[in-house]
Amino acid sequence: MHSWIRLLFLLCGVTCLVRCCDWLQSYGLLSNRSLTQLEQMGGRMTEQECPVSFPYTLYTNMRRTKVETRLKFIKDSLELIIDLYHQGNLSSANWETSKTDIFLITLHRQKDGLTPCVSVSNRKSGPRLTRYYRKLANRTLREMSSSPGSWELIRKETRKHLEQLDLLFATVRRPTGSQ
Ligand SMILES: *[C@@H]1O[C@H](CO)[C@@H](O)[C@H](O)[C@H]1NC(C)=O
Ligand SMILES: *[C@@H]1O[C@H](CO)[C@@H](O)[C@H](O)[C@H]1NC(C)=O
Ligand SMILES: *[C@@H]1O[C@H](CO)[C@@H](O)[C@H](O)[C@H]1NC(C)=O
Repeated sequence: MHSWIRLLFLLCGVTCLVRCCDWLQSYGLLSNRSLTQLEQMGGRMTEQECPVSFPYTLYTNMRRTKVETRLKFIKDSLELIIDLYHQGNLSSANWETSKTDIFLITLHRQKDGLTPCVSVSNRKSGPRLTRYYRKLANRTLREMSSSPGSWELIRKETRKHLEQLDLLFATVRRPTGSQ
């Protein structure tokens, strides 16, 4: 009985991969593009420490989950990252707002591409993820009144997240590897 359930999970993952196969290619390209756009948006990344510690455990916990759960986590994360950029006054950032707009368009495309890979019934990725991003926005944009420094922190933390999401995505592309 147990092995049947495992097989079912495995098949579900594979079906999803087949369905999204074409898109997985472009995801890699988009992901490279959004990271590049983020890096070129401003100058050097700030050396300042973020007041909210980076949630590495959320990412390591994901590595033991189903492919679909991981894709859902990536999609939810991208959505929350996009949200961050709508929570403060962007005009006080050190870079041009139009650069953020272009970056966000790429993130949207990355996120929307995941939609057919994630079933509607799939649960949200859990309250810890949402709580983390809310706290991040509170301790930076809100408490620092959208100062240029708070945007620099958001940009730096965004890069860390996009890098982690890329690593997680790499485990999806090799479905037989780490399941
Ligand atoms: C994007 O891809 C190019 C070519 O493969 C690579 O040189 C570059 O380092 C990548 N950029 C990022 C931000 O990953
Ligand atoms: C956002 O910041 C800019 C420049 O600092 C300022 O002119 C503008 O009034 C602010 N907008 C809001 C909605 O606070
Ligand atoms: C963030 O601030 C909002 C508004 O003050 C508050 O309702 C929420 O509980 C705070 N969340 C966290 C995680 O700090």
